[in-house]
Amino acid sequence: MQTITIALSKGRIFKETLPLLAHADIIPLDDPESSRKLILDTNQEHIKLVIIRATDVPTYVQYGAADIGVAGKDVLLEHGGQGLYEPIDLGIAKCKLMTAGPMDAEINYFEQGKKIRVATKFVNVAKRFYAEKGVQAEVIKLYGSMELAPIVNLADRIVDVVDTGNTLKANGLKPMEHIADISSRLVVNKASMKMKHDEMHHLIKKISEAV
Ligand code: ATP
Ligand code: PRP
Repeated sequence: MQTITIALSKGRIFKETLPLLAHADIIPLDDPESSRKLILDTNQEHIKLVIIRATDVPTYVQYGAADIGVAGKDVLLEHGGQGLYEPIDLGIAKCKLMTAGPMDAEINYFEQGKKIRVATKFVNVAKRFYAEKGVQAEVIKLYGSMELAPIVNLADRIVDVVDTGNTLKANGLKPMEHIADISSRLVVNKASMKMKHDEMHHLIKKISEAV
């Protein structure tokens, strides 16, 4: 049998993917929260898990370093999805990609000619969103804790994922414009789909049954 490598990130994606893998009779032999290993064996000798940052999953799968992976749609929208099939919406890690700003901010905030500053880790998504609205936006790349940016006057708005809205509220911000509904997707390397067809087809079928 050919080896199949599955790319997952620690935390909610790993936890929520476990039951789907279990349905395909794949059980990791280590827990990424306690192990320092980045490649985990499973009960099936030919199936390995690589544990990487959530934003790196599409890249590993795109280049064939992993055959298949699980990534949030937010991450896929930002990455662009080149070289990937996206066969299944797994319906896990659901949230929304939104703009947010201070409690007293108005949606209709675009004074003629005034450029707004937007802080986010979703730079491509934010640029596209404001460009489609015809709004001039200067987009500042951050790697986390975006909610801080409007408080310290680094930016007028942020673009981030929102679930309960508690993080925004705790920082004096409110959700403003809806950009996309988000859930995690199975992503598959296009070449692996051809070269390892039988193993990949079986795995995708089992995971889609579990969904
Ligand atoms: P990293 O730590 O590598 O920067 P991350 O913090 O975005 O990545 P996670 O917090 O594990 O990683 O999020 C993984 C995915 O889960 C996100 O890409 C998004 O699709 C979804 N997600 C993020 N936050 C929430 C949330 N509060 N509720 C539900 N789903 C979420
Ligand atoms: C995510 C995201 C938001 C928060 C939104 O952070 O970055 O800050 O969830 O969720 P809420 O609307 O329910 O408050 P997470 O808790 O995953 O921590 P992280 O910053 O490590 O990603």
